[in-house]
Amino acid sequence: MNGLENVVALETALSEIDGENGRLHIRGMPIEAIAASRPFEEAVYFLWTGKFPNADEKERFINEIFAGMRLADAYRRYLDAIPADGDATAFLMAALAGLDRGAFPWPPDWQQGARLIGLVPAVIGHLQSRRQQRPPLQPDPALGLAGNYLYFIKGSRPAAEEIQALNGYFTLTMEHGLNASTFAARVITSTQSDLASVVVGAIAALRGPLHGGAPSGVIAMLEAIGSEENIEPWLTEQLRKGKRIMGFGHRVYRTLDPRAKVLKTLAEPLAQGGGWFALALKVEETALRLLRAHKPERSLNTNVEFYAAALFKALGLPPDFYTATFATSRLAGWCAHAIEQAQNNRIIRPLSRYVGPVHE
Ligand code: COA
Repeated sequence: MNGLENVVALETALSEIDGENGRLHIRGMPIEAIAASRPFEEAVYFLWTGKFPNADEKERFINEIFAGMRLADAYRRYLDAIPADGDATAFLMAALAGLDRGAFPWPPDWQQGARLIGLVPAVIGHLQSRRQQRPPLQPDPALGLAGNYLYFIKGSRPAAEEIQALNGYFTLTMEHGLNASTFAARVITSTQSDLASVVVGAIAALRGPLHGGAPSGVIAMLEAIGSEENIEPWLTEQLRKGKRIMGFGHRVYRTLDPRAKVLKTLAEPLAQGGGWFALALKVEETALRLLRAHKPERSLNTNVEFYAAALFKALGLPPDFYTATFATSRLAGWCAHAIEQAQNNRIIRPLSRYVGPVHE
């Protein structure tokens, strides 16, 4: 009951996680197969509609995404009023909270989702252009969503391998059952709130260190460890203090998260033998050994966030964009759940049991 563990709260046709065997299926298809064969945009279309797009559908879908990526002048002025020197996740939440709610009438649909998924990279790009004191870049449809995301952040056209790696990350992490932010998204949708507000609320849940905030924690951990000799003493001390090792453990998986395996293969060539990647591999090895001894009854394995952190670092993303990068992919899952919730909506309103004192 604590943390609603093992409670089935609703039915979904979107994804199925087999935590015992380390499998994740999206609409009945293994996530690894989708990530290996389709760019993110097509994977999102499949998640939202249950089929891969034909040429016409793909063109319409991509046009909608790029319409979202082209920011109106009035909206740019609104973005200019949000502080750029603070936290990027807070900037993104403020940006989405300022959207015209009338543009997202109930019920949510795929067109609204497509515009939002295009908008997020452009908002992050706008923030980065302000920080780097250069004019905002215009989206380039030839780069696709993942390529534009990197282009907006780096300010130069990314290499094909970088785009391919980010496409893989986006697809692998777009949907994952009733995780905390997706549950939050369904609760907010059930009140008939608009899709932009749903995404703001979901990001609020995602940014916590036990959920999507973990990759920044992984990088902070690698930096604090610093050298191979320090790995074991540092991790031992954390466990002694009752702290959690970021990038390990999962509520549902009792074996290796299938997404972590693929992310490792995406990050490795981009890291080009960098010392920090070798350190990460050694940290993983030692952490798994220590966690086995620390909690023998619980199978604690490397989770997706450990190698997401490695991939983000290999791609040269600034650490404070990590949560926004996760939000860009998971937005696909939030919108899918919002659309599914709206199709058979009843406000989500469970009960609590009072256990406090009684004063007559
Ligand atoms: N480091 C150290 N101990 C951990 C741990 C970790 N990464 N993950 C779990 N544990 C411990 C817990 O403290 C708990 O111990 P306790 O019973 O003495 O309190 C025990 O193992 C059981 O934990 P479990 O029930 O599996 O965890 P959970 O379902 O409550 O939480 C996470 C799942 C993901 C929140 C948790 O594993 C965690 O905090 N991991 C680190 C953060 C992270 O990587 N998040 C990204 C998730 S994809």
